[in-house]
Amino acid sequence: MESFLIKGGVPLHGEVEISGSKNAALPIMAATLLTDEPCIIRHVPDLSDTRFMAQILASLGAEVKFRNGTLTIRARKLKGYADYKLVRKMRGSICIMGPLLGRLRQARVSLPGGCIIGARPINLHLKGFAALGAKIKIEGGYVDATAKKLAGTTMFLGGRAGSTVLGTANVMMTATLADGVTVIESAACEPEVVDLAAFLKAMGAKISGAGSPTITITGVKKLHSAEHEVIPDRIEAATFAIAAAATDGEITLKNARADHLRAVIDKLTEANVSVKRHGDDLMVRRKGRLKSVDVTTLPHSGFPTDVQAQMMALLTLAPGISIITERIFEARFMHVSELARLGADIEIEGPSAIVKGGKPLSGAPVMASDLRASAALVIAGLAAQGTTQVNRIYHLDRGYEQMDVKLRKLGARIKRVEEK
Ligand code: EPU
Repeated sequence: MESFLIKGGVPLHGEVEISGSKNAALPIMAATLLTDEPCIIRHVPDLSDTRFMAQILASLGAEVKFRNGTLTIRARKLKGYADYKLVRKMRGSICIMGPLLGRLRQARVSLPGGCIIGARPINLHLKGFAALGAKIKIEGGYVDATAKKLAGTTMFLGGRAGSTVLGTANVMMTATLADGVTVIESAACEPEVVDLAAFLKAMGAKISGAGSPTITITGVKKLHSAEHEVIPDRIEAATFAIAAAATDGEITLKNARADHLRAVIDKLTEANVSVKRHGDDLMVRRKGRLKSVDVTTLPHSGFPTDVQAQMMALLTLAPGISIITERIFEARFMHVSELARLGADIEIEGPSAIVKGGKPLSGAPVMASDLRASAALVIAGLAAQGTTQVNRIYHLDRGYEQMDVKLRKLGARIKRVEEK
């Protein structure tokens, strides 16, 4: 297994190119299953998660080529069965279910199970499929969805924690090939849902309202080939912005969408970090001493749960008390005990973490537990005095394209080593 070895205390400077969005690319890749014609997707990040999704699509019968960030996928023939061995490795793979059901009128997909950040149920996905007329059976760890006919209807897809991103994506994909009009109320408004809708529209789907809580889909008989460029990864952009702030550096995020990052920019500004837009770029600079701020994660356009851990790493450096409340995933505080190993003072009180910031961090060996927790540990390591070894970085490779290479270009002293 590999680790990152980081010699901290070096301010980041320079420019970093933001990759295509992982969480937009994954459902868009799945959407190619809705047609037997070839689709071309550009600006796809080369990550273990996107490669893994490519493998799943191939296992379902699709021809997949991945070269220089461009995917060509053609699902001429398709089988509707996805095995546990594949699905359990990546919860995101559940978004193949919607397209399979839409095109084949049947899907048998293993239940993904929980993961380190929470239970990750799929009840809302299934509620949506059932509303469209599918019969759902759960047996032997698999969900079977079959439908003689899929018929559009109005449904409410809100749950305990608000809207669901992949649930909205899944139902929207099925509905493109259902008869009549489907209205999804309490739909997720995330930019990744908007990007998926853009791709589906390029394939001939009739969709309006994506990006708002009400999405309307008018079913069509068939979808066709399409080309699409994936949006920049707002979570990667936020991660680099926070790393620059944590190291008291100054960087330019090339090809970052400020309109996707409003809540993050707002909180960084409150913490005394300047974020300025120049065309498609964002310039990030710490203005002096960091200020403590309170942060609550919420569905878009609120503060993203995928940036909570990184923001916490930053706020350990801000004198005063910051309260960080996690409203999306119940167990997403795995980074807290690892940040404590670097000297951070954080207490967990129910869904909140109370960060008593301002003490300097010092390097230590730490263990990455999930993708975003790992990013938080890298940020803390970059800001800490001395050497930090972040172990199990395969988590990072799932969602950040060449993070070590990009950080080195910004002046960080970081290298990839074999874990000892
Ligand atoms: N939920 C339900 N029932 C459902 C589905 C979700 O109760 O049927 C709950 C979840 O337990 C959670 C909340 O609703 O409390 C939101 O979950 P959501 O369905 O929106 O999450 P997701 O679609 O499974 C995507 C991203 C996650 C990101 C979340 C929230 C992908 C591949 N994954 O997951 O990304 O945290 O949305 O924004 O798009 C990551 O990239 O590190 C990551 C975990």
